[in-house]
Amino acid sequence: MGSILRFSDEFIEDVRARNDIVDVISGYVQLSHKGTSYKGLCPFHNEKTPSFSVHKGRQMYHCFGCGASGDVFNFLMEYDRQTFSEAVESLARRAGMEIPQESADPVGRAEKGIRDRLLEVQKEAAKYYFYVLYTPQGRQALNYLKGRGLSDEIIKSFGLGYSEKTGTGLYNYLKKKGFTDAELKDSGLFVYDDKSGRARDKFWNRVMFPIMDQNRRVIGFGGRVMGDAKPKYLNSPETKIFEKSRNLYGLYAARSSRKDHMIICEGYMDVISLHSAGFTNAVASLGTALTSQQAALIHRYVKSAILMYDSDEAGIKAARRAIPLLREAGINPKVCDLKPYKDPDEFIKGLGAAELEKRIEKAGNGFMFEIEQLKRSFDLTDPQGMADFQNVIVAELLKFPDEIERNSYLESMARTYNIDPDLLRRQLARLAMKGTSPPPKTVDEIKPPVARVKDPAALRDEKILLSWMSRDEGLTKYLKEYITENDFTSDIHKELVNALYDQARSGTFNPVSILNRFEDVEEKSAAAAVLEGHLLPDNVDDRNRAVLEVLAAIKERSYNRALESADITDPEVMQKFLLEKQKLEELKRGGLAIGG
Ligand code: CTP
Ligand code: MN
Repeated sequence: MGSILRFSDEFIEDVRARNDIVDVISGYVQLSHKGTSYKGLCPFHNEKTPSFSVHKGRQMYHCFGCGASGDVFNFLMEYDRQTFSEAVESLARRAGMEIPQESADPVGRAEKGIRDRLLEVQKEAAKYYFYVLYTPQGRQALNYLKGRGLSDEIIKSFGLGYSEKTGTGLYNYLKKKGFTDAELKDSGLFVYDDKSGRARDKFWNRVMFPIMDQNRRVIGFGGRVMGDAKPKYLNSPETKIFEKSRNLYGLYAARSSRKDHMIICEGYMDVISLHSAGFTNAVASLGTALTSQQAALIHRYVKSAILMYDSDEAGIKAARRAIPLLREAGINPKVCDLKPYKDPDEFIKGLGAAELEKRIEKAGNGFMFEIEQLKRSFDLTDPQGMADFQNVIVAELLKFPDEIERNSYLESMARTYNIDPDLLRRQLARLAMKGTSPPPKTVDEIKPPVARVKDPAALRDEKILLSWMSRDEGLTKYLKEYITENDFTSDIHKELVNALYDQARSGTFNPVSILNRFEDVEEKSAAAAVLEGHLLPDNVDDRNRAVLEVLAAIKERSYNRALESADITDPEVMQKFLLEKQKLEELKRGGLAIGG
């Protein structure tokens, strides 16, 4: 979360002031006036009734369908795939403003310069590999790709290429282009000999897959051998611009596929095959297991995902790891069965796109998949085995905090495995009584440890309160007495509440400008979603009651969290807790009285 380095806050605010969000977005989306806001069809997801709204007063947009939100800068970043600096520049130009070339911060400027050069190196390298592919030297590689069913068009759109055998072709080319050894060293594309200082290309005689970020900028490469040599794939190491855990292969295209889900697969070739077959919503992680950052990235665009991992043991294991991770990010995971084929690429070759579409429709949800996997370790012909398996089912069901959801899974478990639903219900009640979720040791033995789940109810209440605060300066001032960053559970929420207090104190209340604090696009958009998520009740009494309810819920959780880790044998500590508790009770009894 740094500050934006290139432009000053004043300049950014000036640009914002001269570019009314309604005007700007009207250039892309047809908007119609409704009350205080403007409505239209959301450009970020596929919909038939408008849930995208642009609020003139707040200068923000929000989609109640897909959750996309942000300010005028976010809009261009999302829609036109611009970087923040590019969005500021293009809006400054739009308003006829002069663009400052010099950054006030020399370190930031230097850092940005380095990153820009590294991006240049990757871009030139991609051009070079692509060029070589279509020379006589690249003949074998081109045949290989064609042999795998790729058209010239697909090769071009994924920018595939070939690194020749000489081992210095790329190096010589980039030196001629004027890049220095210092720049090339940091690019991850070369191996430098310590003694002689000489460089050679990291990739040689491989088919090259440029890895692009969500803005379609090349940030690294994967290279595949054409035969059976090992390693099959070689990937760029992480660099200043290439973070494997925060990018996904194919995302730049998948994000604008306008489908309500993404397909997550394992390999570069799988993504390419899927895209060629019309599944342009496919992405893959970059030679590592799926990470929570990648899940968060996906969550910005869709709320459900189909896992299409290899159908071998490794693929099943990877899917079992990915399921809880996706769920935690707010994505509903489903698992697609590709048998008898190994991966999506082979499935499409074998049975075609229409068959795959059918399999997608049949994809089971993550919970059922998980139970199905667990089932394999029990002997269900043995009564004890059956009983153990039921215990596991009940233990898994207990993990659903939502009763309706839990019940619907219980019903379908009962049906799938031919168990009396009342039996499961009784067992569930018994276990729930015991308080903590039971540890039938079988579950812990088989299941990989699941990361501590963030409390979704807490996050939701925090979002509501922050959104309300950002809509009412008076409310923000009032709440300063009652709630601090320590009561919030996410870093973004902490940052937001502090920023709101800062602005209220200094008399510069302008919540949209808080977004400038978030440099990372994801964080910026998450922060915007928080601020835009909820409206305050119109009526003052309703408002006070609603705020009190949410405030009390947040405080109560915060209190319980603190109590959990406190030394309750220390009387002084306990005294403090009692006082807190009293304050909370008083607050709940007395109610809030914030003016109208
Ligand atoms: N991978 C890797 N390094 C390896 C092997 C695999 O980084 N030595 C990564 C690559 O991103 C690859 C993915 O894991 O795309 C899946 O590997 P695998 O299933 O072995 O390859 P496929 O995608 O099936 O590739 P192909 O069809 O070209 O054999
Ligand atoms: Mn494959």
